[in-house]
Amino acid sequence: MRNTVATRLLFELSLPGRRGAEFPTSDVPDVGWDQLLPAEQLADSAPPLPELTEPDVIRHFVNLSTLNMSVDTHFYPLGSCTMKYNPKRHERLASLPGLVDVHPYRADQDNQGMLAILHEMQEMLAEIAGLPAVSLPPAAGAQGELTALLVASAYFKERGENRTKVIFPKSAHGTNPASAAIAGFDCIQLEDTNDGLVNLEELQQHLDESTAVFMITNPNTLGLFEPDIQRISDMLHEVGGLVYIDGANMNAILGITRPGDFGGDMMHYNVHKTFTGPHGAGGPGSGPIAVRDFLADYLPGPIVAKSEDEYSLLTPEKSIGRVRSFFGNVGILLRGYCYIRTLGADGLKAVSENAVLNANYLMSQISKLMGVPHGKHCMHEFVASAKQIKENQKISAMDIAKRLLDYGFHAPTVYFPLVVDEAMMIEPTETESKATLDAFVDAILAIINDEKPDALENAPITTPISRPNETQANRKPVLRESIEDAKS
Ligand SMILES: Cc1ncc(COP(=O)(O)O)c(C=O)c1O
Repeated sequence: MRNTVATRLLFELSLPGRRGAEFPTSDVPDVGWDQLLPAEQLADSAPPLPELTEPDVIRHFVNLSTLNMSVDTHFYPLGSCTMKYNPKRHERLASLPGLVDVHPYRADQDNQGMLAILHEMQEMLAEIAGLPAVSLPPAAGAQGELTALLVASAYFKERGENRTKVIFPKSAHGTNPASAAIAGFDCIQLEDTNDGLVNLEELQQHLDESTAVFMITNPNTLGLFEPDIQRISDMLHEVGGLVYIDGANMNAILGITRPGDFGGDMMHYNVHKTFTGPHGAGGPGSGPIAVRDFLADYLPGPIVAKSEDEYSLLTPEKSIGRVRSFFGNVGILLRGYCYIRTLGADGLKAVSENAVLNANYLMSQISKLMGVPHGKHCMHEFVASAKQIKENQKISAMDIAKRLLDYGFHAPTVYFPLVVDEAMMIEPTETESKATLDAFVDAILAIINDEKPDALENAPITTPISRPNETQANRKPVLRESIEDAKS
C-alpha cells in the first residue's frame, strides 16, 4: 500500500482537467482525418494519461529519486561490490556530444577520437594489471570471468590438453563457480584455512594435468591479501594450469602491486567499481579482461589497434568470438578513463592507500563492538561477525543492517562470505571522512546498546517498505502495475 505522495503513482495523483500546459485551439483545417486513415487504426478514445500540472510531475520524480539510498546521499559501506563516490566531472565527460553522438557503425577512419580513447584505456588497464593484452567488451565482472575462462578453454583445446577442473577457495564470490560451470568446467571448492587464506596442502591435492584454472580474488572477500599468492601461482604453473585473478578488489592494490607481477595469467576489472561508474542493481557495468601474451590471440574482439597515427578495430586470429555488442559499455569505460587520467599513477596509488587506511580505522573501531574473526589488519574491506551479539542479545546481522537504514546509512553486505557466521562485510572506500566513519560506528553502537530486539524486528521503519521477502523480491520483482489497478 502506497500512502505517501512520494510513493503514489502519477495515475493516482491525476485529477480530471489538470494540465501542465495549455495549447491554443488548433488552426489546422480538419481535412477529414478519419477519412484518410484506415478505420481500424483509429482509437475510440483519447489515451488514459494522468492529468497533472508541471509541478506535480516534477515533485513526483524528484521525491521518487530520494527514496533510494545512494552514494550521493548516504554513506554506502557495501562490502565486495565497491560502491565508491562517482566524481561528477565524469558525467560531464561522458555526456560530451562528440562522444555521445558517435555511432558504433561509423567507419573506423571517422571514429578516430573514440578509438584513441579506447586504445589508451586498453594500454592503461594493461599497465595497471601487469598483463599486456586487454579486451574491453565484457559488460561486467561476471562476464569478464566467463570470457577469460572461455579464452583458457580455447587455449587448452588448441594445445590438445583436456583440462576439466577449475578450483577456487570457499570465500570466492558466487560468480566464480557460476562462470566456471557455464564455461563447461568442473568446479572444485577448497576449504579456507582458519585464518581465511588458501590451504596450500589442499590445493596441491587437486593439482594435476586435468587442472585448468585456479580462480582467486586477491585481496580476497575477507579483505585479506593472500601472502602465498606467488607460491600458489608457481604451483599452478608447475602443472600447466593458469591463474585467474578476480579483480573486483583492485581498489586495495592500485599502483602497489599487480596481478601479472604476482603470477596471474588472466584477470577481469570491474571498471564500474574500481574506476567509478554509477552502478547497482545489476548494471551498468564494464568488466574488461587482461591476459598474458600467449593468450592474446584468443581474446574477444573488437580490440583497438594502433599503427603509426591510425586506429582500427581488429579481431584476434583465434578469437573466441564476440561477447558483447559493439565496443562494450562505452559510457562506463569513458568514466573509468576519466578517473585514471585525472588521478595518474600517484593518484591511483593514493586511492588504494586511503581505502586501506579507512578500512583499517573502521575495523579497529568496529572490533570494539563485535568480533572480526579474520586478520589483525585488513586491506580495503573486512568482515565482522554479529554471532556473539545474536547469541547474547538476540540481535542479528540482518537486524543491525536493516536498522542502519533508519539511522541514514546504507547497510553493509550481510551473510557473505559464507565462511563467517552472521557476517557483516564492510568497505568504507577512500573518500569517506573520519567523521562519517565515527558516525557509522556510533549508529551500530546505539543499535546494539539501546535498542530492543523485538522492536528491531520491524526495522527499517522510515523506508517506503520494510522487510520484503528478499528471495521473492529478487526473483519475482513487481515492476509494473496495470493502470486500472492504480486508479482503483
Ligand atoms: C569478488 C567479486 N567477483 C566478481 C563479482 C562480479 O562482478 P559484477 O557484479 O561486475 O558482475 C563481484 C561483484 O560483486 C565480486 O565482489
